[in-house]
Amino acid sequence: MRLMVTGGAGFIGSNFIRYMLSQCEEYTIINYDALTYAGNLENLRDLERNPAYTFVRGDITDAVLVDQIAGSGIDAIINFAAESHVDRSIDDPGIFVKTNVLGTQVLLNAARKNGVSKFIQVSTDEVYGSLGNEGLFTETNPLAPNSPYSASKSGADLLVRSYHETYGMDVNITRCSNNYGPYHFPEKLIPLVITNALENKEIPVYGDGLQVRDWLHVKDHCAAIALVLQSGRSGEMYNIGGNNERTNLQIVKTILHELGKPECLIRHVGDRLGHDRRYAIDAAKIRSELGWQPQYRFETGIRETVEWYLQNEPWWKRVKSGDYMRYYEKMYGSRLVKA
Ligand code: NAD
Ligand code: DAU
Repeated sequence: MRLMVTGGAGFIGSNFIRYMLSQCEEYTIINYDALTYAGNLENLRDLERNPAYTFVRGDITDAVLVDQIAGSGIDAIINFAAESHVDRSIDDPGIFVKTNVLGTQVLLNAARKNGVSKFIQVSTDEVYGSLGNEGLFTETNPLAPNSPYSASKSGADLLVRSYHETYGMDVNITRCSNNYGPYHFPEKLIPLVITNALENKEIPVYGDGLQVRDWLHVKDHCAAIALVLQSGRSGEMYNIGGNNERTNLQIVKTILHELGKPECLIRHVGDRLGHDRRYAIDAAKIRSELGWQPQYRFETGIRETVEWYLQNEPWWKRVKSGDYMRYYEKMYGSRLVKA
Protein backbone atom coordinates (compact mmCIF):
# COMPACT_ATOMS: atom_id res chain seq x y z
CA MET A 1 0.00 0.00 0.00
CA ARG A 2 1.42 3.35 -1.06
CA LEU A 3 0.74 6.20 1.37
CA MET A 4 1.10 9.94 0.95
CA VAL A 5 1.65 11.34 4.44
CA THR A 6 1.50 15.13 4.51
CA GLY A 7 3.23 17.00 7.35
CA GLY A 8 5.36 13.95 8.06
CA ALA A 9 8.33 16.03 9.23
CA GLY A 10 6.38 17.38 12.21
CA PHE A 11 5.74 15.87 15.62
CA ILE A 12 2.87 13.42 15.05
CA GLY A 13 3.54 12.84 11.34
CA SER A 14 7.12 11.71 11.95
CA ASN A 15 6.01 9.37 14.74
CA PHE A 16 3.30 8.01 12.42
CA ILE A 17 5.73 7.27 9.59
CA ARG A 18 8.09 5.46 11.97
CA TYR A 19 5.16 3.55 13.47
CA MET A 20 3.79 2.43 10.08
CA LEU A 21 7.14 1.32 8.72
CA SER A 22 7.78 -0.68 11.86
CA GLN A 23 4.38 -2.39 11.65
CA CYS A 24 4.12 -3.74 8.16
CA GLU A 25 6.46 -4.35 5.25
CA GLU A 26 3.71 -3.78 2.71
CA TYR A 27 3.66 0.03 3.24
CA THR A 28 5.65 2.49 1.21
CA ILE A 29 5.43 6.11 2.29
CA ILE A 30 5.92 9.45 0.59
CA ASN A 31 6.38 12.15 3.20
CA TYR A 32 5.15 15.41 1.65
CA ASP A 33 6.10 18.38 3.80
CA ALA A 34 6.84 22.07 3.24
CA LEU A 35 9.36 22.15 6.12
CA THR A 36 7.93 25.19 7.87
CA TYR A 37 9.46 26.21 11.22
CA ALA A 38 7.78 23.07 12.68
CA GLY A 39 9.05 20.60 10.08
CA ASN A 40 12.36 18.93 10.81
CA LEU A 41 13.99 16.17 8.77
CA GLU A 42 16.11 15.27 11.78
CA ASN A 43 12.94 13.68 13.17
CA LEU A 44 13.27 10.96 10.51
CA ARG A 45 17.04 10.65 10.15
CA ASP A 46 16.91 6.94 11.04
CA LEU A 47 14.64 6.27 8.02
CA GLU A 48 16.57 8.17 5.37
CA ARG A 49 18.05 5.01 3.87
CA ASN A 50 14.87 2.96 4.15
CA PRO A 51 13.79 2.07 0.57
CA ALA A 52 10.13 2.19 1.66
CA TYR A 53 10.45 5.88 2.58
CA THR A 54 10.72 8.95 0.30
CA PHE A 55 10.69 12.63 1.19
CA VAL A 56 9.28 15.30 -1.13
CA ARG A 57 9.46 18.93 -0.11
CA GLY A 58 6.21 20.63 -1.07
CA ASP A 59 3.35 22.78 0.12
CA ILE A 60 -0.15 21.30 0.35
CA THR A 61 -1.50 24.48 -1.24
CA ASP A 62 0.62 23.81 -4.36
CA ALA A 63 -2.06 22.19 -6.56
CA VAL A 64 0.34 21.21 -9.36
CA LEU A 65 2.84 19.37 -7.19
CA VAL A 66 0.16 17.79 -5.00
CA ASP A 67 -1.59 16.50 -8.13
CA GLN A 68 1.67 15.06 -9.43
CA ILE A 69 2.35 13.15 -6.19
CA ALA A 70 -1.25 12.03 -5.69
CA GLY A 71 -1.17 10.76 -9.28
CA SER A 72 1.86 8.54 -8.67
CA GLY A 73 -0.13 5.48 -7.62
CA ILE A 74 -1.08 6.64 -4.13
CA ASP A 75 -3.63 4.43 -2.32
CA ALA A 76 -4.27 6.69 0.67
CA ILE A 77 -3.57 10.24 1.82
CA ILE A 78 -3.19 10.91 5.53
CA ASN A 79 -3.22 14.65 6.11
CA PHE A 80 -1.21 15.78 9.12
CA ALA A 81 0.07 18.99 7.49
CA ALA A 82 -1.18 22.03 9.32
CA GLU A 83 -0.31 25.13 11.22
CA SER A 84 -0.84 23.58 14.64
CA HIS A 85 -0.13 26.11 17.40
CA VAL A 86 -3.07 27.98 18.94
CA ASP A 87 -0.96 30.93 20.17
CA ARG A 88 0.43 31.52 16.69
CA SER A 89 -3.10 31.45 15.26
CA ILE A 90 -4.07 34.26 17.65
CA ASP A 91 -1.01 36.25 16.56
CA ASP A 92 -1.43 35.66 12.79
CA PRO A 93 -4.59 33.81 11.64
CA GLY A 94 -4.13 34.16 7.85
CA ILE A 95 -1.63 31.35 7.33
CA PHE A 96 -3.91 29.01 9.30
CA VAL A 97 -6.75 29.55 6.84
CA LYS A 98 -4.41 29.15 3.88
CA THR A 99 -2.70 25.93 5.02
CA ASN A 100 -5.42 24.25 7.04
CA VAL A 101 -8.47 25.07 4.91
CA LEU A 102 -7.20 25.71 1.38
CA GLY A 103 -4.45 23.09 1.70
CA THR A 104 -6.95 20.42 2.71
CA GLN A 105 -9.20 21.30 -0.22
CA VAL A 106 -6.25 21.05 -2.64
CA LEU A 107 -5.44 17.59 -1.25
CA LEU A 108 -9.08 16.47 -1.49
CA ASN A 109 -9.28 17.62 -5.11
CA ALA A 110 -6.11 15.78 -6.04
CA ALA A 111 -7.29 12.64 -4.23
CA ARG A 112 -10.58 12.71 -6.09
CA LYS A 113 -9.06 13.44 -9.50
CA ASN A 114 -6.49 10.66 -9.14
CA GLY A 115 -8.80 8.02 -7.66
CA VAL A 116 -6.99 7.80 -4.31
CA SER A 117 -8.98 5.16 -2.39
CA LYS A 118 -8.85 6.64 1.13
CA PHE A 119 -8.45 10.12 2.61
CA ILE A 120 -7.82 10.57 6.34
CA GLN A 121 -8.02 14.03 7.86
CA VAL A 122 -6.12 14.26 11.15
CA SER A 123 -8.24 16.69 13.09
CA THR A 124 -8.51 17.77 16.69
CA ASP A 125 -10.85 17.80 19.69
CA GLU A 126 -10.52 21.60 19.66
CA VAL A 127 -13.17 21.78 16.92
CA TYR A 128 -15.78 21.03 19.61
CA GLY A 129 -14.87 24.11 21.66
CA SER A 130 -14.65 24.09 25.43
CA LEU A 131 -16.33 21.95 28.12
CA GLY A 132 -17.45 22.89 31.62
CA ASN A 133 -16.51 20.69 34.58
CA GLU A 134 -18.73 17.82 33.41
CA GLY A 135 -19.20 15.85 30.18
CA LEU A 136 -17.11 14.54 27.29
CA PHE A 137 -16.90 15.35 23.58
CA THR A 138 -18.62 12.75 21.39
CA GLU A 139 -18.61 12.66 17.59
CA THR A 140 -22.14 14.13 17.55
CA ASN A 141 -21.18 17.30 19.44
CA PRO A 142 -21.67 20.41 17.30
CA LEU A 143 -18.61 22.24 16.01
CA ALA A 144 -17.92 25.27 18.23
CA PRO A 145 -14.31 26.33 17.64
CA ASN A 146 -12.97 29.24 19.67
CA SER A 147 -9.55 30.01 18.17
CA PRO A 148 -8.52 30.79 14.60
CA TYR A 149 -6.61 27.47 14.71
CA SER A 150 -9.63 25.39 15.68
CA ALA A 151 -11.89 27.36 13.31
CA SER A 152 -9.54 26.54 10.43
CA LYS A 153 -9.45 22.85 11.44
CA SER A 154 -13.27 22.88 11.60
CA GLY A 155 -13.42 24.38 8.10
CA ALA A 156 -11.18 21.60 6.85
CA ASP A 157 -13.35 18.94 8.51
CA LEU A 158 -16.44 20.34 6.81
CA LEU A 159 -14.72 20.23 3.42
CA VAL A 160 -13.70 16.61 3.99
CA ARG A 161 -17.27 15.76 4.94
CA SER A 162 -18.57 17.53 1.82
CA TYR A 163 -16.28 15.51 -0.50
CA HIS A 164 -17.80 12.36 0.99
CA GLU A 165 -21.39 13.57 0.67
CA THR A 166 -20.99 15.18 -2.76
CA TYR A 167 -18.53 12.93 -4.57
CA GLY A 168 -18.81 9.73 -2.52
CA MET A 169 -15.14 9.80 -1.57
CA ASP A 170 -14.00 7.33 1.09
CA VAL A 171 -12.90 9.66 3.88
CA ASN A 172 -12.40 9.57 7.64
CA ILE A 173 -11.88 12.36 10.13
CA THR A 174 -10.03 11.63 13.36
CA ARG A 175 -10.33 14.04 16.29
CA CYS A 176 -7.67 13.55 18.88
CA SER A 177 -6.90 15.15 22.22
CA ASN A 178 -3.50 16.59 23.22
CA ASN A 179 -0.54 14.39 22.27
CA TYR A 180 2.81 14.14 24.01
CA GLY A 181 5.95 12.12 23.30
CA PRO A 182 9.25 12.30 21.40
CA TYR A 183 9.94 14.98 18.75
CA HIS A 184 7.29 17.32 20.18
CA PHE A 185 8.13 20.89 19.18
CA PRO A 186 9.07 22.88 22.30
CA GLU A 187 6.56 25.67 21.75
CA LYS A 188 3.88 23.30 23.12
CA LEU A 189 3.30 22.91 26.86
CA ILE A 190 4.98 19.58 27.73
CA PRO A 191 8.23 19.95 25.75
CA LEU A 192 8.40 23.64 26.68
CA VAL A 193 8.21 22.78 30.38
CA ILE A 194 10.79 19.99 30.08
CA THR A 195 13.32 22.03 28.12
CA ASN A 196 12.85 25.29 30.06
CA ALA A 197 13.25 23.36 33.32
CA LEU A 198 16.43 21.73 32.03
CA GLU A 199 17.76 25.21 31.27
CA ASN A 200 16.53 26.51 34.68
CA LYS A 201 14.30 29.01 32.85
CA GLU A 202 10.91 30.24 34.02
CA ILE A 203 7.89 28.15 33.05
CA PRO A 204 5.06 30.33 31.77
CA VAL A 205 1.65 29.16 33.03
CA TYR A 206 -1.23 30.96 31.36
CA GLY A 207 -3.79 32.46 33.77
CA ASP A 208 -4.60 30.29 36.79
CA GLY A 209 -3.21 27.11 35.19
CA LEU A 210 -6.39 25.17 36.00
CA GLN A 211 -7.33 24.55 32.37
CA VAL A 212 -7.75 20.83 31.66
CA ARG A 213 -6.40 18.80 28.74
CA ASP A 214 -6.80 15.07 28.01
CA TRP A 215 -3.28 13.78 27.29
CA LEU A 216 -2.55 10.87 24.94
CA HIS A 217 0.82 9.36 24.05
CA VAL A 218 1.62 10.00 20.40
CA LYS A 219 2.19 6.26 19.73
CA ASP A 220 -1.36 5.54 20.87
CA HIS A 221 -2.59 8.21 18.48
CA CYS A 222 -0.58 6.65 15.63
CA ALA A 223 -2.00 3.19 16.37
CA ALA A 224 -5.52 4.63 16.25
CA ILE A 225 -4.93 6.27 12.86
CA ALA A 226 -3.48 3.01 11.51
CA LEU A 227 -6.67 1.21 12.54
CA VAL A 228 -8.82 3.86 10.90
CA LEU A 229 -6.77 3.45 7.72
CA GLN A 230 -7.30 -0.31 7.74
CA SER A 231 -10.91 -0.53 8.91
CA GLY A 232 -12.53 2.90 9.31
CA ARG A 233 -16.03 3.02 7.87
CA SER A 234 -16.35 5.39 4.94
CA GLY A 235 -17.48 8.88 5.92
CA GLU A 236 -17.11 8.31 9.67
CA MET A 237 -15.47 10.49 12.30
CA TYR A 238 -13.57 8.94 15.19
CA ASN A 239 -12.69 10.63 18.47
CA ILE A 240 -9.37 9.57 19.99
CA GLY A 241 -8.45 10.34 23.59
CA GLY A 242 -6.52 8.95 26.52
CA ASN A 243 -8.90 9.43 29.44
CA ASN A 244 -6.06 11.31 31.09
CA GLU A 245 -7.42 14.63 32.23
CA ARG A 246 -4.89 16.85 33.98
CA THR A 247 -4.77 20.55 34.77
CA ASN A 248 -1.85 22.41 33.27
CA LEU A 249 -0.45 23.03 36.75
CA GLN A 250 -0.55 19.28 37.48
CA ILE A 251 1.40 18.65 34.27
CA VAL A 252 4.00 21.30 35.09
CA LYS A 253 4.48 20.05 38.66
CA THR A 254 4.75 16.41 37.54
CA ILE A 255 7.53 17.29 35.12
CA LEU A 256 9.40 19.47 37.63
CA HIS A 257 9.18 16.61 40.10
CA GLU A 258 10.53 14.10 37.51
CA LEU A 259 13.47 16.41 36.84
CA GLY A 260 14.10 17.30 40.49
CA LYS A 261 13.56 21.01 39.72
CA PRO A 262 11.92 23.52 42.10
CA GLU A 263 8.35 24.77 41.69
CA CYS A 264 9.59 28.36 42.04
CA LEU A 265 10.39 28.14 38.29
CA ILE A 266 6.62 28.45 37.67
CA ARG A 267 5.57 31.92 36.58
CA HIS A 268 1.89 32.80 36.11
CA VAL A 269 1.62 35.01 33.02
CA GLY A 270 -1.18 36.68 31.03
CA ASP A 271 -3.84 34.25 29.82
CA ARG A 272 -4.32 33.06 26.21
CA LEU A 273 -7.13 34.99 24.49
CA GLY A 274 -10.30 32.89 24.19
CA HIS A 275 -8.58 30.15 26.22
CA ASP A 276 -10.58 26.90 26.18
CA ARG A 277 -11.11 25.73 29.75
CA ARG A 278 -11.44 21.98 29.37
CA TYR A 279 -11.17 19.28 26.71
CA ALA A 280 -12.11 15.65 27.36
CA ILE A 281 -12.79 12.93 24.82
CA ASP A 282 -15.28 10.10 24.74
CA ALA A 283 -13.45 7.49 22.63
CA ALA A 284 -16.14 4.80 22.94
CA LYS A 285 -16.78 4.66 19.19
CA ILE A 286 -13.24 3.82 18.10
CA ARG A 287 -12.90 1.40 21.02
CA SER A 288 -16.04 -0.54 20.18
CA GLU A 289 -15.88 -0.36 16.36
CA LEU A 290 -12.17 -0.76 15.74
CA GLY A 291 -10.96 -2.30 19.00
CA TRP A 292 -8.52 0.53 19.75
CA GLN A 293 -7.15 0.86 23.29
CA PRO A 294 -4.43 3.23 24.49
CA GLN A 295 -1.40 1.25 25.67
CA TYR A 296 0.35 3.94 27.69
CA ARG A 297 -0.35 4.87 31.29
CA PHE A 298 0.31 8.59 31.58
CA GLU A 299 2.83 8.12 34.40
CA THR A 300 4.94 5.80 32.24
CA GLY A 301 4.55 7.88 29.09
CA ILE A 302 5.58 11.15 30.71
CA ARG A 303 8.61 9.52 32.39
CA GLU A 304 9.73 8.09 29.02
CA THR A 305 9.17 11.45 27.37
CA VAL A 306 11.23 13.33 29.96
CA GLU A 307 13.95 10.71 29.47
CA TRP A 308 13.81 11.20 25.68
CA TYR A 309 14.45 14.94 26.08
CA LEU A 310 17.32 14.22 28.46
CA GLN A 311 18.86 11.86 25.88
CA ASN A 312 18.23 14.17 22.91
CA GLU A 313 19.51 17.51 24.09
CA PRO A 314 21.23 18.35 20.75
CA TRP A 315 17.85 17.92 18.99
CA TRP A 316 15.92 20.36 21.17
CA LYS A 317 18.83 22.78 21.57
CA ARG A 318 18.98 23.13 17.78
CA VAL A 319 15.19 23.47 17.53
CA LYS A 320 15.15 26.12 20.25
CA SER A 321 17.91 28.22 18.72
CA GLY A 322 17.59 30.99 16.15
CA ASP A 323 14.24 32.25 14.86
CA TYR A 324 12.16 30.18 17.24
CA MET A 325 13.87 31.65 20.32
CA ARG A 326 13.35 35.21 19.09
CA TYR A 327 9.67 34.48 18.57
CA TYR A 328 9.37 32.86 22.01
CA GLU A 329 11.01 35.79 23.80
CA LYS A 330 8.67 38.23 22.04
CA MET A 331 5.53 36.26 22.99
CA TYR A 332 6.77 35.64 26.55
CA GLY A 333 7.53 39.35 27.02
CA SER A 334 4.03 40.35 25.91
CA ARG A 335 2.48 37.86 28.37
CA LEU A 336 4.48 39.29 31.27
CA VAL A 337 3.02 42.73 30.47
CA LYS A 338 -0.52 41.27 30.59
CA ALA A 339 0.03 39.28 33.81
P1 NAD B 1 3.48 20.11 13.87
O1 NAD B 1 3.32 21.60 13.87
O2 NAD B 1 4.52 19.49 14.74
O3 NAD B 1 3.80 19.61 12.38
C1 NAD B 1 3.13 20.13 11.27
C2 NAD B 1 3.90 19.69 10.02
O4 NAD B 1 3.17 20.17 8.88
C3 NAD B 1 5.31 20.25 9.93
O5 NAD B 1 6.20 19.25 9.51
C4 NAD B 1 5.19 21.35 8.86
O6 NAD B 1 6.40 21.55 8.14
C5 NAD B 1 4.09 20.78 7.98
N1 NAD B 1 3.38 21.82 7.23
C6 NAD B 1 2.88 22.98 7.72
N2 NAD B 1 2.32 23.69 6.72
C7 NAD B 1 2.47 22.95 5.59
C8 NAD B 1 2.08 23.13 4.23
N3 NAD B 1 1.45 24.27 3.83
N4 NAD B 1 2.36 22.16 3.35
C9 NAD B 1 3.01 21.03 3.74
N5 NAD B 1 3.43 20.81 4.98
C10 NAD B 1 3.14 21.77 5.91
O7 NAD B 1 2.04 19.52 14.16
P2 NAD B 1 1.62 18.21 14.99
O8 NAD B 1 1.50 18.55 16.41
O9 NAD B 1 2.46 17.09 14.54
O10 NAD B 1 0.13 18.02 14.42
C11 NAD B 1 -0.09 17.26 13.23
C12 NAD B 1 -1.58 17.27 12.93
O11 NAD B 1 -2.30 16.71 14.02
C13 NAD B 1 -2.16 18.67 12.72
O12 NAD B 1 -3.09 18.60 11.68
C14 NAD B 1 -2.86 18.99 14.04
O13 NAD B 1 -3.95 19.85 13.82
C15 NAD B 1 -3.31 17.60 14.47
N6 NAD B 1 -3.43 17.38 15.91
C16 NAD B 1 -2.39 17.67 16.76
C17 NAD B 1 -2.50 17.37 18.11
C18 NAD B 1 -1.37 17.65 19.08
O14 NAD B 1 -1.57 17.48 20.30
N7 NAD B 1 -0.19 18.03 18.64
C19 NAD B 1 -3.68 16.80 18.61
C20 NAD B 1 -4.74 16.54 17.72
C21 NAD B 1 -4.58 16.83 16.36
O1 DAU C 1 -6.32 19.29 21.83
C1 DAU C 1 -5.55 19.04 20.69
C2 DAU C 1 -4.66 20.23 20.41
O2 DAU C 1 -3.65 20.22 21.41
C3 DAU C 1 -4.06 20.23 19.02
O3 DAU C 1 -5.10 20.34 18.07
C4 DAU C 1 -3.07 21.38 18.85
O4 DAU C 1 -2.44 21.29 17.59
C5 DAU C 1 -2.03 21.27 19.95
O5 DAU C 1 -1.13 22.36 19.87
C6 DAU C 1 -2.70 21.26 21.32
O6 DAU C 1 -3.34 22.53 21.61
P1 DAU C 1 -3.29 23.20 23.08
O7 DAU C 1 -3.52 24.63 22.92
O8 DAU C 1 -4.13 22.45 24.02
O9 DAU C 1 -1.75 22.86 23.45
P2 DAU C 1 -0.57 23.76 24.06
O10 DAU C 1 0.56 22.83 24.34
O11 DAU C 1 -0.30 24.98 23.27
O12 DAU C 1 -1.21 24.20 25.46
C7 DAU C 1 -1.68 23.26 26.39
C8 DAU C 1 -2.25 24.03 27.56
O13 DAU C 1 -1.17 24.66 28.26
C9 DAU C 1 -3.20 25.14 27.17
O14 DAU C 1 -4.22 25.25 28.16
C10 DAU C 1 -2.33 26.39 27.20
C11 DAU C 1 -1.34 26.09 28.29
N1 DAU C 1 0.02 26.68 28.15
C12 DAU C 1 0.66 26.47 26.97
C13 DAU C 1 1.93 26.98 26.80
C14 DAU C 1 2.67 26.80 25.49
C15 DAU C 1 0.60 27.35 29.20
O15 DAU C 1 -0.01 27.52 30.29
N2 DAU C 1 1.85 27.84 29.03
C16 DAU C 1 2.55 27.70 27.87
O16 DAU C 1 3.69 28.20 27.76
